[in-house]
Amino acid sequence: MKVEKGIVLAGGSGSRLWPMTAVCNKQLLPIYDKPAIYYPISTLMLIGIRQILIISSPEGIQSIERMLGDGSQLGIELLYAPQYEPKGLPEAFIIGERFIGGDPVIMILGDNFFHGHAITEMLKVEPYERSKIFLYPVNDPGRYGVAELDKEGKVVSVFEKPKKPSSNLAITGFYYFDSSVAERAKRLSPSLRGELEMTDLINQYDADKLLSAVVFGRGYVWFDIGTPQALNNASNYVEVIQSRQGVTIGSLEEVAWRMGFISGEQLKYLITSIPHCKYKNYLESIL
Ligand code: TTP
Repeated sequence: MKVEKGIVLAGGSGSRLWPMTAVCNKQLLPIYDKPAIYYPISTLMLIGIRQILIISSPEGIQSIERMLGDGSQLGIELLYAPQYEPKGLPEAFIIGERFIGGDPVIMILGDNFFHGHAITEMLKVEPYERSKIFLYPVNDPGRYGVAELDKEGKVVSVFEKPKKPSSNLAITGFYYFDSSVAERAKRLSPSLRGELEMTDLINQYDADKLLSAVVFGRGYVWFDIGTPQALNNASNYVEVIQSRQGVTIGSLEEVAWRMGFISGEQLKYLITSIPHCKYKNYLESIL
């Protein structure tokens, strides 16, 4: 069954980015020249997903909806649902239960950035039978959920922010789960820090032998912009690639057009509403 639905989780407290997040959602902070949430939404669009549920705090939703509306201008459907308090990532599947219906779903975190040659091939979720986590080798695995794999690449263990990590494979904020995910999320209990934990959900799938893992190779970039340094690194990366190659990363209008979600005429019309700026010049140039 093809995956047609995606969730962008875009709430959280953003405490590590304070005071930038004092009155602004983390996902609206700029990664160089675009709001951070443009990048994960464009990633979902690039893998062909057009039904997207955005979950954020009530204030976050107000701003994001004002910015992106119902998505029809991009040939996609954007729906919104509030998470009143940041009670953990798996709560997204409980909040999104009706949206998910009886279908499999991809979730991407609103502050995650993926880029690289043929990234869409990398993020393909076939074969669909097994739920999937996507792992990225990092220097500082103890900051993340960490997965240990055996020689055949099967998941052996998954731990949240381990003091002594058993591998350098961080669990990225891109997940593919089958249609049982909401039911499974409802069975979780909050951890000591009072949150539902993604690692507990992943462990359930692993225990039922329904999980597989994909490991990113060297040619890919993954940032989560949870800290000022990471936000700055992601911005610098986008600036370097864009100015060197003359392309724009994460432009929703461009991706919508390239994916055939909107026509050239529709893109032209969208461009008329953008004020004079480099972003507008770029979109004009690709037409
Ligand atoms: P985190 O970076 O783990 O949490 P946070 O945003 O609350 O930041 P901090 O630790 O600095 O306080 O969250 C990862 C992503 O998930 C991020 O996009 C925020 C989002 N999130 C939610 O939307 N709801 C939640 O309940 C949690 C925990 C995170």
